[in-house]
Amino acid sequence: MLKVRVLSFNSIDMKKLIVLLGLFGMSLAAWAQTLTSPNGKLVMDFHLAEGNVPVYSLTYKGKEVIKESRMGFLIRPSYEFDKNFRIIETKEDVSDTTWNPVWGQNCVVRDYHKELFVALQQENTGWQFNIRFRLFDDGLGFRYEFPVQKELRHFTLNEEVTEFCLSGNHKAFWIPADYDTNEFQITTSKLAEVPQLIDEARNEALACKSPSPNLAVQTPLMLKSDDGLYINIHEAALVNYPAMHLNLDAKTFRMSAHLTPDKNGVKGFIQTGSHTPWRTVVVSDDARDILASNLIANLNEPCKLEDTSWIKPVKYVGVWWEYFIGGGSTWAYTDTQDIVIGETDYSKLKANGHHGANTAHVKEYIDFADEHGFDAVLVEGWNEGWEDNYAYAKEYIYSFTKAYPDFDVAELQRYAAEKGVKIIMHHETTSSVVDYERQMHDAFRFMNRYGYDAVKTGYVGPIIPRSEHHDGQWMVNHYNRVAETAAKYKIMVNSHEAVRPTGLCRTYPNWIAQESARGTEFESFNGIRPDHQTILPFTRLMGGPMDYTPGIFEGDLSVYGNNKAKLGTTLVKQLALYVTMYSPLQMAADLYQNYEKHLDAFQFIKDVAVDWDNTYILEAEPGDYITIARKAKGKNEWFVGGITDENAREACIDFSFLPKGKKYQAIVYADGKKAHWKTNPKDYVISTRKVSSKTILKQRLAPSGGVAISIREI
Ligand code: NOJ
Ligand code: CA
Repeated sequence: MLKVRVLSFNSIDMKKLIVLLGLFGMSLAAWAQTLTSPNGKLVMDFHLAEGNVPVYSLTYKGKEVIKESRMGFLIRPSYEFDKNFRIIETKEDVSDTTWNPVWGQNCVVRDYHKELFVALQQENTGWQFNIRFRLFDDGLGFRYEFPVQKELRHFTLNEEVTEFCLSGNHKAFWIPADYDTNEFQITTSKLAEVPQLIDEARNEALACKSPSPNLAVQTPLMLKSDDGLYINIHEAALVNYPAMHLNLDAKTFRMSAHLTPDKNGVKGFIQTGSHTPWRTVVVSDDARDILASNLIANLNEPCKLEDTSWIKPVKYVGVWWEYFIGGGSTWAYTDTQDIVIGETDYSKLKANGHHGANTAHVKEYIDFADEHGFDAVLVEGWNEGWEDNYAYAKEYIYSFTKAYPDFDVAELQRYAAEKGVKIIMHHETTSSVVDYERQMHDAFRFMNRYGYDAVKTGYVGPIIPRSEHHDGQWMVNHYNRVAETAAKYKIMVNSHEAVRPTGLCRTYPNWIAQESARGTEFESFNGIRPDHQTILPFTRLMGGPMDYTPGIFEGDLSVYGNNKAKLGTTLVKQLALYVTMYSPLQMAADLYQNYEKHLDAFQFIKDVAVDWDNTYILEAEPGDYITIARKAKGKNEWFVGGITDENAREACIDFSFLPKGKKYQAIVYADGKKAHWKTNPKDYVISTRKVSSKTILKQRLAPSGGVAISIREI
């Protein structure tokens, strides 16, 4: 194999080269295109291997990240669109720009990458696809592009062939592949151990689950190699395409794309003149660089909304946690099971006496939000339909424009507006998606009329009536359509149970957060291990912010009745999550009465910012610990959050992120000496001290504990 470093090709050079090569009896297949990252640490190689199969590989400081890996497609009924290619054009490019996100972890983002574009034509069919590679200092992105072509107008996919051949038996932080849910506990194991652990991991899911037939895991997948490389595999800009899982060969450590099928097994419908999402590999020998990476956002399209002035980060409380703790509060208004929407006059039905979303109770939350400076109150269970939310009795489930009789929409609008508090709308669809689309415009108009500017959507359970999968192309298009449509009504969206994010919030910044992973609700089912929050930023959060809903102060749920669940963290770790789990949408999830018992600790949640000028990843190791400092947007205020797994540790907080030569006051919220997530989660100490950019603070964190610090200039 002759490998030549190609500096700059354009199509004219290419034609000359082809002639030249012909003279020497060589073909382009023998040429490897090499792309080097701006800082020179990453090198990507592309060539046609034996059988004219397109392959790529990637190294970091000379270490193998991705070994020679295949690219292409298998298309229906049985065409191999992954071999017999010739290169018809290549182009190289460099781009160094910056952009300003509407909200984010930093107010300026640099996008500095080198690009290689390769046009391929299959010899036997004449069909074409192009591959566009972008190499950044923090990793590689590539996507397939299907040019408009006479011989191929549209086709369906059997599979995408893309491989990620790994160099060894890496430590992996993974959840099992599943076409419908990602609300799993995260397993940490060697890749070779995945086969023996995968069934147990699958059984962890509570939600609707559909095990994929193969041995496969979900992305974002976080890996650590024995030679100290941190590797993250995911995708960017998932539009009109199914989400990708990864098949694993646990003997050779070859991973390959496993697209989510539709209900008939078709993996995707492609019309030429389109492209796939980007496949992403973020890599470094320092775990902090993975958390600091902007690669996925950079591969998404710039913001498509002209006016973004109405998009505002939100800190909120809500009528929510009470539904999980076993205290009796219900989403449903009545206990009656035979409700028929549209025909049922709810005002004639007897209220069950413990309906959460009643006007008086919502007003208590509005008062609390007002008193403590929260932007909004989420109210779940306000609308007709919760009695039969599996739609046994009827064709559709919820009304998104009809409130229960004890929820006075107009009065609550007046009351909230008077106090300067917003109410967050809730649209649980229970995956009755066709019906949601039917009602969507009316629902958004209803929100506009009553002053709502944000909606939490939900997709619990199997997709009815179509039986599509949550992560398939059809649903991907649905989630994107909801975000796009909501923007037209100036509505922010927080989707739960949707496909995991891929950075589309850059393009539609009104898509302010998603769940799409195991969040705090699982604390009420005893389902969150102490290492969970030290892994999520390396996995799920790579694609975008999460509505994790932290802030649980009363961790012993038996105080409410018969729920025996216990919180998996100390109280202080709950505070630290507001900094370590980045989101422009943050909830203080506990009952307001629990905050009133600990107003001193609650002060941190009141103070902490939700939008940032700068972020400094101070310490990080997936599965073990994370310490992050951030500067509040437009203010001289900084916040630090540090968390640990089940092991106590000493965080080393270096304050050199502070501007030099000034004095600051820091309020330190620390685990008490006897704090332990299991036995003594509420033991905390609050102290005040002077700090400067020269301060280094060694702070002990309890088992599953944390530290939270707010800093102001003196
Ligand atoms: C699941 C969501 O994650 C949760 O937040 C919500 O309360 C329930 N569905 C009901 O919609
Ligand atoms: Ca959920």
